Amino acid sequence: MSKNNPFCLSFGKEPDRYVERADAYSKIAETFNSISPSSNCYCIMGVRGIGKTVLLSTISNDFREDKDWVVVSLNSGRNLLEMLAAGLYEDAKLQKYFVEASLNLSKFGIGLNIKKNPPISDIQIAIEKMVKIVNDKGMRILITIDDVTKSKDVISFACAFQDLIGRRMQLYLLMTGLYENIYNLQRDKRCSFLLRAEKVNIGPLSLIGMKNQYMQTFQCSEKEALKMAAFTKGYSYAFQVLGYIMWDKDCSLEEAIPFFDEKMAGYCYEKVWDDLSEKEKEIITLLAEKGEMKTRDIIAKTGSTDKVFSVQRDRLVKKGIVDGTSHGIVRLALPRFEEFVKMTML
Ligand SMILES: Nc1ncnc2c1ncn2[C@@H]1O[C@H](COP(=O)(O)OP(=O)(O)OP(=O)(O)O)[C@@H](O)[C@H]1O
Ligand SMILES: [Mg+2]
Repeated sequence: MSKNNPFCLSFGKEPDRYVERADAYSKIAETFNSISPSSNCYCIMGVRGIGKTVLLSTISNDFREDKDWVVVSLNSGRNLLEMLAAGLYEDAKLQKYFVEASLNLSKFGIGLNIKKNPPISDIQIAIEKMVKIVNDKGMRILITIDDVTKSKDVISFACAFQDLIGRRMQLYLLMTGLYENIYNLQRDKRCSFLLRAEKVNIGPLSLIGMKNQYMQTFQCSEKEALKMAAFTKGYSYAFQVLGYIMWDKDCSLEEAIPFFDEKMAGYCYEKVWDDLSEKEKEIITLLAEKGEMKTRDIIAKTGSTDKVFSVQRDRLVKKGIVDGTSHGIVRLALPRFEEFVKMTML
């Protein structure tokens, strides 16, 4: 059955077997499309493999098809302002307007050297002029940055963005990142607008959505599909990995488990584990023994206090590692993460 496996093991690619995230999608799309948006910036946060990049791609692809929007995707790690100017200039529906306005961007190696006007030497001024031209044509600009981390480039981009939206430009920013990276960035004074940015912490996929995808793909009973869906705990990458193995090996859920553990460790859990602090690893190792524990038992075992543990617990919940939905109880949010931790500790 290995041919044409409909499940996908690569990160960042929109999968064939897709479970809609209607809530997060509509929150973001409605905010940006409203006449006076509550915020020009949205951050999608969540643990590795939960589906941040896929959600970002789904939204940007849909916005790209809307004639009122221009979408520019930037990669953090390069000069974001120059990338934005180049991205706007290369957009097929915009280039003629920049040429008409005789914008001379030759200093940045963008476009033709239009002699009529002297070259613009400041990238921020260049962008301001470009954004104004686009907005005057009735279009809004959506900038996307996937997997943002704090860097010199990101900070200078954030300063320029803040300045431009302060001048009421129709410019919007959609970023994804791990909770700790977004948190680090917003703590920097120069990125203070991020404190006011809207944030969506994406959680598990819907159980019914996953069940329907499994039922359709495997032509199995509802009960069997529900069992598979529940096994993944709604973790997007696990949803793909389990489906991939069961398709590939034509096996039962129970038979798939050893292969599941192997793939999850190698492709995903090692990175998730490395992202944790030593203190967090200590808490997770304790939790891994049982999968879930009473808050007061963890506090007693780690020799912590209520106050200190409540901060640690909150961070682990925000990072998407721990499920904190039941009062007084903490449990691991990722499927069979406890098995992975036990193996790591051997
Ligand atoms: N809505 C979804 N339905 C089904 N599968 C999904 C969905 N979203 C993501 N996936 C799958 O989950 C995996 C991880 O998705 P993605 O790369 O978007 O995660 P991520 O949160 O961006 O991870 P990272 O933090 O490592 O960049 C991919 O295999 C993808 O196909
Ligand atoms: Mg990603």
